[in-house]
Amino acid sequence: MYSILGVVLAAGKGSRMKSPHLKVLHPLGGKAIVDHVLKTLEALGCHEKVVVINDEMDHLKKYLHDHHPLTGISIQDAPLGTGHALLSAQEFIKKTKGMGVVVFGDTPFVNPETLKKSFAKLEKSPLVVFGMTPRDKRQYGRIALNSEGYVEKIIEDNLCTDEELKLSLCNAGMLAFRTETILPLLEAIPEIEGEYYLFEVVRLAREQGLSVDYVIADEYETQGINSQQELAQAEQFFQNMMRKRFLDHGVTLIDPNSVYFSPDTEIAAGTVIEPHVFFGPLVKITGPAHIKGFCHIEGAEISQGCVVGPFARLRPQTLLAPCVKIGNFVEVKASYISDGSKINHLSYIGDAQVGKDVNIGAGTITCNYDGMKKHLTRIEDNVFIGSNTSLIAPLTIGQGAMIGAGSTINYNVSSHSLALTRADYKEIKEGATRLRFKKKEIL
Ligand code: UD1
Ligand code: CA
Repeated sequence: MYSILGVVLAAGKGSRMKSPHLKVLHPLGGKAIVDHVLKTLEALGCHEKVVVINDEMDHLKKYLHDHHPLTGISIQDAPLGTGHALLSAQEFIKKTKGMGVVVFGDTPFVNPETLKKSFAKLEKSPLVVFGMTPRDKRQYGRIALNSEGYVEKIIEDNLCTDEELKLSLCNAGMLAFRTETILPLLEAIPEIEGEYYLFEVVRLAREQGLSVDYVIADEYETQGINSQQELAQAEQFFQNMMRKRFLDHGVTLIDPNSVYFSPDTEIAAGTVIEPHVFFGPLVKITGPAHIKGFCHIEGAEISQGCVVGPFARLRPQTLLAPCVKIGNFVEVKASYISDGSKINHLSYIGDAQVGKDVNIGAGTITCNYDGMKKHLTRIEDNVFIGSNTSLIAPLTIGQGAMIGAGSTINYNVSSHSLALTRADYKEIKEGATRLRFKKKEIL
């Protein structure tokens, strides 16, 4: 049984981002850039995953530790180039009997299917590089092939002769290798202008008579992120990919360019999404629903027949059962809303369990926080809550109960009761006229 090792190189400084944040932790589709790269290695079926960082990246180390089950993190002690970076993961290369793949931490769109194509080729050739033919070749290494159609060498852009600059096949940056072959090659990489270039392993392999094959990648896959401009372009690219995916899948997007998704967004066919909707992480729409304009939704599950918005906010751990209606300026957090219930206007429902066919009037607030702790509100089936009601948790409102408008409720209400808290009505005849007269006198 062989193993597959995936190595992510992420020790580069990323200074062109001009940001106090580490490059690979910048958000792309709401996830860190490095999350996308590790997801690719996951999809490739890597048994071992290693990230190479530098010794000033404690924050990244902690992030990786907290979010990804990795085999290990290697520290590159000086920024001496991609070859030197891979060599710093040598203990993991030594331990793995099988194949390895190197990818860059700042290149999030590599398709696992492209990487997979190298596996069959590794049976014959111990090294496989990835080539592409970009519109603009500047800054890319060039791949020179030999008469048998195998790779002879890779020359970095700045080291190419005029003839070599004309080569159309460029280096996409990833590399696949057999683990037992790569280490001696890495150790033999010569220093060129203060760097150890990874792709010198190709020339060294050829000198030993080893064959080097290549796989063609698409240009989009090699889109790297080095600046805020490139990050914004990558975000556009990612969003367009997601929009296309949902349109192809039968979701109606009235204005696709104004809807934003996360990599894990799931939306059932038949759902209609109006303009200006933002989906943060962990949203699932499990049956055809209607999301009206200007909604912000994250961490929520929405069932078939629900209507949400316009201008609604659904926050994490919200679950809407079938045919729930959430209207304008309603915020729901950590709440389960059962079938057919309606919260149509200007409300905050947090830490609540709402039963079936409940009607929550405009301006209802669950007062879930007492300044120290969060408390639960339970609203049972068929309850009617009048407008402008404050429900002070912890609280249970029994089945079929009604709450009068304008109430502040801080006792449990039993089933089928009518509860209300109101000051007595008072009307002073001609009081308004007298008050105005009095005010004028003072002036
Ligand atoms: C690299 C390739 C180039 C290819 C291009 C495709 C090399 C030397 N060049 O150039 O042939 O056409 O990708 O995009 O590989 N890194 C480290 N430690 C270092 C230096 C870099 O971990 O000492 C990491 C960086 O964090 C980055 C990755 O390696 O994630 C790539 O390094 P970068 O300097 O950006 O290489 P490119 O100039 O893009
Ligand atoms: Ca780069």
